[in-house]
Amino acid sequence: MTRKLLVTSALPYANGSIHLGHLVEYIQTDIWVRFQKMQGHSVHYVCADDTHGTPIMLRAEKEGITPEALIAKVHAEHSADFAEFLVEFDNYHSTNAPENKQLSQHIYRALRSNGKIATKTIEQFYDPVKQMFLPDRFIKGECPKCHAKDQYGDSCEVCGATYNPTELINPFSAVSGATPVRKETEHYFFKLSECEDFLKRWTRSGTLQAEAANKMGEWFASGLSDWDISRDAPYFGFEIPDAPGKYFYVWLDAPIGYMASFKNLCDKRQQSADGDQQAGLDFDEYWKQDSTTELYHFIGKDILYFHALFWPATLEYSGHRKPTQVFAHGFLTVNGEKMSKSRGTFITARSYLEHVKNPEYLRYYYAAKLNGSMEDIDLNLEDFVARVNSDLVGKYINIASRCAGFISKRFDGKLAAASDNAVIADLRAAAASVADSYVNRDFGRALREIMALADKANGYVAEHAPWEMAKQPGREAELHRVCSDALEMFRLLTIYLKPVLPKLAVSIEQFLNIAPLSWADVAAGLPADHGIQTYQHLITRIDPKQIEAMTEANKENLQPQNASAQVAAPVAATPATDEHHISIDDFAKVDLRIARIVAANHVEGAEKLLQLTLDIGEANTRNVFAGIKSAYDPATLQGRLTVMVANLAPRKMKFGLSEGMVLAASDERGGPFILSPDSGAQPGMRVK
Ligand code: MSP
Ligand code: ZN
Repeated sequence: MTRKLLVTSALPYANGSIHLGHLVEYIQTDIWVRFQKMQGHSVHYVCADDTHGTPIMLRAEKEGITPEALIAKVHAEHSADFAEFLVEFDNYHSTNAPENKQLSQHIYRALRSNGKIATKTIEQFYDPVKQMFLPDRFIKGECPKCHAKDQYGDSCEVCGATYNPTELINPFSAVSGATPVRKETEHYFFKLSECEDFLKRWTRSGTLQAEAANKMGEWFASGLSDWDISRDAPYFGFEIPDAPGKYFYVWLDAPIGYMASFKNLCDKRQQSADGDQQAGLDFDEYWKQDSTTELYHFIGKDILYFHALFWPATLEYSGHRKPTQVFAHGFLTVNGEKMSKSRGTFITARSYLEHVKNPEYLRYYYAAKLNGSMEDIDLNLEDFVARVNSDLVGKYINIASRCAGFISKRFDGKLAAASDNAVIADLRAAAASVADSYVNRDFGRALREIMALADKANGYVAEHAPWEMAKQPGREAELHRVCSDALEMFRLLTIYLKPVLPKLAVSIEQFLNIAPLSWADVAAGLPADHGIQTYQHLITRIDPKQIEAMTEANKENLQPQNASAQVAAPVAATPATDEHHISIDDFAKVDLRIARIVAANHVEGAEKLLQLTLDIGEANTRNVFAGIKSAYDPATLQGRLTVMVANLAPRKMKFGLSEGMVLAASDERGGPFILSPDSGAQPGMRVK
């Protein structure tokens, strides 16, 4: 009986670009799916954009477009990015779709009739100017612990404290700048507290990795609270049935988006299935309570709570099947650190494609690093270049490039009959073990084994040195056999690598003149006299310069829209001034000018000050005392351009008159660092 698998990756938010962090997940899932398809199972891989919620609503508003227009634009971008990275969904849908609305409302009604929905009046922060309730992330203020200014409502980025928005000092709305007020509102809750027995059973039944099951233990220990599933208008999402002005919280309808995407696929198949050309796909067969199909979710460890608690409970109490397994992976670091815009390691999928071009290099590297656990994985850019060049070019492709030419030139492109070669036998025997590693998502182990086999194959070629045989008359048959055997080794390696390198596999299938390879093709080699195409260059080395160019480009492009986008950086949408903001007119009062440091000198008796003579394009230079002695040697400042406040009231100091101020940055991490304009700026230009 064919196994029927439905596989998903988490639905990326529709307000940001796909970046290399996201790709860990989509590449991991795609490799697994391609592997399962090669086994001959019936596998469907679905995903969608996660389109609802406040950040998306506000981002659209900021861009001056409707949320529908924003998510349509992002859907096109995401689809193109995934396609180019060879992530092959059977369907890529949207949570803002009729199927999802219908399913969400249906599931909600089922939960309600099962007594799992309650309402409660709660108090929430409300923005009186924007007239909306504010999610924690859209409230900012002073950290109650370390007093850092401009911190989010849920946690402080300076000291790491977490707290409630009510604890913030001088809170303000990140949307309008207004001081939020407390306001009562009725919310809808899913009574998760009543699902504890079921969830304990479910999470311990082999559905989760051991590390994830342990995490669950911690959550159960602190008790499950009911889950707030409603948000008040204005909200971009689906309205709750019989609750005007109340919307489903984005995380209620997001996982239902998995079902909706599959429903959409079933409907499309239905329409295109003329006669029995394409087997129909039955939605209920996959989602009914007692389904015998398999359901797998790939997710990041950050969204485990949603997939291991909320989602199975939602399914259970609405009469649906539960996931067979949830596979969580760790987070991506680049060069051992969190992706960072200042280091140029916050790299979008698009930027990688522009600079490195070949997506299979990244697929290969991620596969080499993935082991099926929740550990973080590191993209070390130097190691990336070295690994890809040595494994793919130096080991794998090398086998074909050293042997194929002789087959074309000397044997009319035809292979010799199969021989009982011990290396080929070893390669064949590895099929089960390699498959096992793929099944367990231990792709690193699979690739280690495959590369060890490639080493053996290369050893075989080196030992028999076909290039020597070619020069010695009378050794034709031997040359023919060695090269044919080496190509058989190459074909077997190609089967094993195909889930990771699907596009390269297609070029190799064309070169070998064979039908698309599946796992079963391990068993039998190519027949004698099988004709192959002339070998063409299959892959090129990565040049480390491409990587350098990529990180450089990402340093330059500090575009906030590329932000990791869990939450779009909110920007004041309505002009409003209050204690936290100044008007543009206030700002215009400050006369900032480009200044050339004509001279810089130590000041007798001053611990912190340097004396600067500044040219700001006026007849007279300015004399300024700047507190930058700790960080600068005066000799290095001479001739530099910087920025000064030119209309600050002159100040009489112990050492003389200071006629302005130069700008410099500092905090506990270091400084002061004086500012410099881009080249082209001239002394006297206004900064505005
Ligand atoms: N929209 C939710 C998921 C809803 S699923 C019903 C979401 N979106 S996301 O765009 O923030 O992330 C999508 C997936 O990418 C998540 O599984 C997340 O863990 C993963 N990753 C996002 N950044 C990542 C890294 N830096 N590293 C590895 N995976 C990361 O969460
Ligand atoms: Zn703090």
